Amino acid sequence: MKVAVFSTKPYDREFLERANQAFGHELVFFEPRLAKETLPLVQGFKAICVFVNDQLDASMLIALKKAGVEHIALRCAGFNNVDLPSAGELGLSLTRVPAYSPYAVAEHAVALMLSLNRKIYWAHSRVRDGNFSLDGLLGFDMHGKTIGIVGTGKIGQTLASALHGFGCKLLGVDRYENDRCKELSMQYVTFEELLAQSDIISLHCPLTPETHHMIDNESVARMKRGVMLINTSRGGLIDTKAVIDGLKTGKIGYMGLDVYEEEEELFFEDKTFEMRLDDEFARLTTFPNVVITGHQAYFTREALERISETTLSNLAEFEKGGELTNRVTAS
Ligand code: NAI
Repeated sequence: MKVAVFSTKPYDREFLERANQAFGHELVFFEPRLAKETLPLVQGFKAICVFVNDQLDASMLIALKKAGVEHIALRCAGFNNVDLPSAGELGLSLTRVPAYSPYAVAEHAVALMLSLNRKIYWAHSRVRDGNFSLDGLLGFDMHGKTIGIVGTGKIGQTLASALHGFGCKLLGVDRYENDRCKELSMQYVTFEELLAQSDIISLHCPLTPETHHMIDNESVARMKRGVMLINTSRGGLIDTKAVIDGLKTGKIGYMGLDVYEEEEELFFEDKTFEMRLDDEFARLTTFPNVVITGHQAYFTREALERISETTLSNLAEFEKGGELTNRVTAS
C-alpha cells in the first residue's frame, strides 16, 4: 500500500527499502517530522509511518483524519507521543513494534554504566593527548554492587540477565513480578526501598502519567550518596532540575542518559552550528560525571531489521483488513 514515511533518515530508508522487497508497499519517504507545517504531505495517503518524536496530539490526529489518513504505523515500541483516546474516538487505527531487540537497549544501558564507572570517555581523550596519568580515573568493581531495575519487562529482564553475569545483586520494581528475573535472584522491593539500597538505578518502565517525573527531588533525596542513575527509557521519567541539583550536591555521583525530556527539539539532528541547546540540557553537558547519548540505545543492525519487518507487516495487515497483531489502543 502507499505509505508516507516521516522522520526518515538515510538508515531508516535503507532498512525499510530492503525489508520492503518482501512486502511491495509503495513507500514515500519524507525527511521532516510530522508537524503542522508538514501536514500537507499526507494528502493522498491512507497510511502514514512515524517515529518517537512525531507529535500525535489531538489536534494533529483530527487534521490527519480530515486529510483521509486511516492508519498510523509507529516504527517504535513506546507510544507516549500519541493521544490514544483521541485516536480511538476518531476511529484511527494504530500499530507499533512491541519488541524488536531488548538486547540493543539493555546492552546500551550496560555501556553507559561501564563508561561512567571506568571513565572511558576521559581516558580515551587523555590518551589521545599523550596523557597517560590515571589520576581521577578510579572505578569500582561491578561485582557485588546492588542494581535497582525499575520496570522488569523485556528490556529490564535482559539487563538483569547481563548484570547477573557480572555478579551484581538485583533489586526490581514492577507491578508484575517477572519469573525469569526471580530465577536470576532478583528481589522485588518497593520503589522507596530500591532508591535507598541501589548503587546503580536503571529505568526501564514506560512513560505514563503515573511514571512522569518518578525521579524528582523527593526520590533523589532517598538515593544513596554517589548513586549512578541510568535512563534509556523516556526523558519524562526524570525531572531534569531535580537531577541537576542532585549532581551539584554530589548526591548523584554519575548519570547516563539516552533520552531527555525535551529531546524532540534536539535529537536525531546535527545541531553543531546552531547553538540551540536548551539551558538545562546545556547545564547537564557541563558535568564531568554525566554521559549523554542521543536516543541511540535502539540503534543496532538487528533492531533496525526487526523494526522494518514488523512495521511493514503491520501495514500489510491493515491493508488486508481484519485483526491487527500489534494494535495500540487506549485500553
Ligand atoms: P515492556 O512493556 O516489556 O516492559 C515495561 C515494564 O514496565 C512492564 O513490566 C511494566 O509492568 C513496567 N511498569 C509499568 N509501569 C510501571 C511503574 N509505574 N513502575 C515500575 N514498572 C512499571 O517494555 P520494554 O520493551 O522493556 O521497554 C521499556 C521502555 O523502554 C519502553 O516503554 C520505551 O519507553 C523504552 N525504549 C527505549 C528505547 C531507546 O532507544 N532508548 C528503545 C525501546 C524502548
